Amino acid sequence: MSLSGKYGHFDLENREYVISRPDTPRPWYNYLMNNEYVAMISNTGGGVSYYRDPRIYRVLRYRYQNVPYDRPGRYVYIRDDEDSSYWSATWAPSWTSGGEYSCRVGTNYQIITYKYNGIQTQIRYFVPQDLPLEIWDMRISNVSDRFRRIRSFSYAEFAFWGAMRDLMNIDNCPNVSRQKWDAENQALLHYSYNDIGTGLNDMHFVMNYAFHVSNRPVSGYGGDRDLFIGSYRDERNPICVERGSSSNYCENGGYPIGSLEHSFELEPGESARVVYQTGYAKDEADYRNKAKKYIDEREIDGAFENIRTIWKTRLDAFRAETPSREFDAVVNSFVQYQAATTLVLSRSISSYEWGIGRAIGFRDSCQDQLGMMHSMPEESRKFLRILAEGLATDGSASHNFNPFTGQYGSTGFYDDHNWLALSATAFIKETGDLDFAREIMGFRGSEKKSSMLEHLLAAQDYAWKHRGVNGLMQTGHADWNDSLNPEDKKCESVFTSLLYCASTIALIELLDKLGEKKQSQKLSRRLKTISAAIEGSAWDGNWYKRMLRKDGSALGSASSPQDEASIFLEPQAWAVISGIRQSERGKALLDIVEKKLGTEYGHKVMDIPFSRFEPELGSVGIYPPGIKENGSVFNHASSWMIYAEALLGRGGKAFEYFMRMSQTTKNEIADTHEVEPYVACQFISQKPYHIVGRGRNPWLTGTASWMAVSAMQGILGIRPSYDGLLISPSIPGSWTSFKVIRRFRGTEYKIQFLNPDGFESGIKSIKVAGREIPGNLIPHSPSDSGATIDVEVLMGSGAALLS
Ligand code: GLC
Repeated sequence: MSLSGKYGHFDLENREYVISRPDTPRPWYNYLMNNEYVAMISNTGGGVSYYRDPRIYRVLRYRYQNVPYDRPGRYVYIRDDEDSSYWSATWAPSWTSGGEYSCRVGTNYQIITYKYNGIQTQIRYFVPQDLPLEIWDMRISNVSDRFRRIRSFSYAEFAFWGAMRDLMNIDNCPNVSRQKWDAENQALLHYSYNDIGTGLNDMHFVMNYAFHVSNRPVSGYGGDRDLFIGSYRDERNPICVERGSSSNYCENGGYPIGSLEHSFELEPGESARVVYQTGYAKDEADYRNKAKKYIDEREIDGAFENIRTIWKTRLDAFRAETPSREFDAVVNSFVQYQAATTLVLSRSISSYEWGIGRAIGFRDSCQDQLGMMHSMPEESRKFLRILAEGLATDGSASHNFNPFTGQYGSTGFYDDHNWLALSATAFIKETGDLDFAREIMGFRGSEKKSSMLEHLLAAQDYAWKHRGVNGLMQTGHADWNDSLNPEDKKCESVFTSLLYCASTIALIELLDKLGEKKQSQKLSRRLKTISAAIEGSAWDGNWYKRMLRKDGSALGSASSPQDEASIFLEPQAWAVISGIRQSERGKALLDIVEKKLGTEYGHKVMDIPFSRFEPELGSVGIYPPGIKENGSVFNHASSWMIYAEALLGRGGKAFEYFMRMSQTTKNEIADTHEVEPYVACQFISQKPYHIVGRGRNPWLTGTASWMAVSAMQGILGIRPSYDGLLISPSIPGSWTSFKVIRRFRGTEYKIQFLNPDGFESGIKSIKVAGREIPGNLIPHSPSDSGATIDVEVLMGSGAALLS
């Protein structure tokens, strides 16, 4: 566990990760964004951007599956006019050796510094909050001891808007391209027509504008990619840079770029600043309007500070000070930052999701809401409404959908509809807004409207109607595990059955709160029935089975064939999370999981991977053993183990499992892990795969939210409830004290924990503003809003653990 590694370190104070060398094993990304404009940026400037919808309004192009992976990007080439040498301000794409590099990965900003040949450049990349554009704020300094004549060339490669069109219609695209040089404003405009329809029968042409402009008089420009790069060259050695002069030409019918040339004369120690803006506009008037604000350097600095303030406010909503600096470093920054990113972006676009498939995965977004709703409740409210409207009147959920276009995808994944109750009730507990349950919203494909509560009940009924012969929930196309998608859609999923229990318990609690007695009693009866069915048919003797097949045999059983998995992770963790198996029985169960599935990086999803593809079982066997759902440490599922241990009060184990999965652990194995160490990735390869510890699919994973929940509500034990904050820490016994500052419904709670007797969980007494309260619930009243309240928690044996 370490705050620094071979490629960089966590900067606790600034909540940044500082990458100290550019040649990371793969490009390491970050996101820059506001509500309308999203940009992905790698540690060397690569990446895509779009306005609102990554399928139809791409601004900057990105070549997925390219070598190297992160091309093209937002580049600035620097050229020494005396000896004609040149390099890149972000190291790539020119890849010069011997320079000094650093990249500060911040909360929605990226600062890349490169010193080469006596010239230092620093580019601060960010997206201001109020306009759909990105800013590249470059300072160039002469750090040598002689006078320098320097020239710079920027490079922004525009996409033909529609991502599919850009890829598939390569006859049409370059022939529709329109560009022009706006001499008055010294800007390059790309304004090709674009079909944002959904097919041949539904063509819908619009003309958007993309622009690239700077705040400093230029000495040249270029609008055509081929002229900029030249024949038999690539971004590494463009002819314009080598020659030292721009094409000053815009080609209609070609591949559009924005490139601006600037010249500098710098005395030793002297600096200059150029601020580029690249963005989206509806039309030319709109572009003129949008591009004029961030010419003023004070506005630019103000916009950057604004982002820092927004994130400070967000992250200050939960701050931990524990004896573990490593734990604090990630919990107070990247765990929350990643959870917030998934909350907003769902699974839309990343280095492995190209933004045209599912925009929102129903189950994904339900879970993505859980980690950061305490800090971004309004975002969460918006999303929960969108999700509820993804339900049909029969309660079935659309597995994937796109809220921008109103297009919904398939149904038939029977875990989906079981997640929403967990997120919606978590939101009401966080905000105290019981009226949310009565808010009216629509249904997918219907004129009907009804309350959030009725949506949740419809989903519940839908689940209840889809039970199988053993009384458990049918799997449908797949349950949480996309690769366990057996041919027989009616086989039963133990995981979904346990998830059903968890969401039903949450719903019953809400119904009781709302005084809906009859409904609550109905659901309690259902809960009893299914709990008995689970214990009757799904318990294998020492753990839970994974699925029940039609012929009565089970997947994930001690009696499974020898070359097949005997135990899967998901149902074991959820047996505890759902509350079906607690206390000693829960502990015995999780001990077995650790023995059979525990690794140094987390818990594997099954003990024996499938060696071949068997359609009867699903697509799991298409992955080599030890990869993805076929036996890796699938981080999302692994993080449930942390939470489950915390719920059982075994703080030592919960903390240990958190640290196995923690970003700081990844720092140490960066070369093997390959992907970003500062955020969680989807999975980590395991034996029998020949590499153990290789990470794939970083950023947009359900791991983010569950790591946040595990740390904040599990280990540190601060759990929102309808009437206030429940306190139930689950920590290593060696922690004698720690502190959490938690914003809750407008009140700042400063909670000091004392643990002189080395407990891992349990509470002896709680004092709120100096007065002892009974139990472990800090009651909240609306009149507390705006106040700061000191709380002192003495750990020991006392108040109930699992409330
Ligand atoms: C991916 C999917 C998620 C699924 C998980 C396990 O992360 O986004 O929906 O639950 O894989 O298959």
